[in-house]
Amino acid sequence: MKAVEVKDLIPGMVLEKKAVSAGGVVVMNAGDTISEASITALRMNYIFSVYIVDESIPLPGGDGGEVFSSRSERIKNSPEFKEFKRRYEATVIDVKSRMNDIVERNSKTLDTEGLLREPLELLQDKSTLEIFDMLHNLRSYDDTTYVHSINVALISGIIARWARFSESDIQLAILCGIIHDIGKLSIPDSIIKKPGKLTATEYKAVKNHTIDGYKILDNYDIKGELKNAALMHHERSDGTGYPFALHDNQITRMAKIVSIADVYDAMTSARSYRGPLCPFSVIDIMIAEGLQKYDTRLILTFLENMGSTYLNNRVRLTDAEEGEIVFVEKNNPSRPIVKTDDGKMISLKDTNLRVEEIL
Ligand SMILES: [Fe+2]
Ligand SMILES: [Fe+2]
Repeated sequence: MKAVEVKDLIPGMVLEKKAVSAGGVVVMNAGDTISEASITALRMNYIFSVYIVDESIPLPGGDGGEVFSSRSERIKNSPEFKEFKRRYEATVIDVKSRMNDIVERNSKTLDTEGLLREPLELLQDKSTLEIFDMLHNLRSYDDTTYVHSINVALISGIIARWARFSESDIQLAILCGIIHDIGKLSIPDSIIKKPGKLTATEYKAVKNHTIDGYKILDNYDIKGELKNAALMHHERSDGTGYPFALHDNQITRMAKIVSIADVYDAMTSARSYRGPLCPFSVIDIMIAEGLQKYDTRLILTFLENMGSTYLNNRVRLTDAEEGEIVFVEKNNPSRPIVKTDDGKMISLKDTNLRVEEIL
């Protein structure tokens, strides 16, 4: 039996002991096999490590090594990626000092323009596909609040663009993403990085980052949408969120955008040990978790566009057959139509086949 941090879990590992959240929810039982969906569920319940059956842990250099996709290797070796990585690192340093200044109230005003500058540059001249490819391959970083905030900012901007928001609202969505977890900066590292189960008090402190964030931002003369994005990004449209269990029409649109970007980044950041997560699995996981949790228009826009981002890309299916995505149906974004190399058209919604990997 070995304690493994959730960020290092690999689908296929088997749980030795049940995983229980600080609130008493049994998220997984002993004997359950780790899947992409269960990694997300553990993270969502603030469980940071679990006990794994020794024999189910892949040996270094064994099967685990083969999950690196050639696409990932290709991207990581490209000059564009190296340039993006350099800029991204500079952005982390810049955003980190600006966020700390906000928390410590080093200035009377909050310089929103300055806060936006570097993240906006990261988005410039890049297609959505490029941004997702880059972000997925930057996973060797520590998953700090700053890195997470920048990712959520970029993804929020992309969702706002997809939802055809005005240019100023796209920028506002990016800003909301940057500051959404600012309340986490006041939580001691001993809690944020605690490998084991959180106590009820610690769990409460983590959840309170929403209210803390609002209070920090309320010291400044800034748009209410920014403060509410910090306060409401863990609220869910069906009333299952926190801190106030608000319902759809009570949650601001920026908080709704950030909540989708936040969940997406939480899912993909569990994969520091390998290449990019197949976006079609992300879509499946989000659908399985329940789309009623999100704003209907925004979540459908997000899923549709995630699917069509990969149009014309080569993929490998779960039966090892390869082909090209030629059509993505609006209603079935994770089940595209794939044209195989011998010209056969496979509509995934009519089969049990799934997209396993983007090539
Ligand atoms: Fe949060
Ligand atoms: Fe977050």
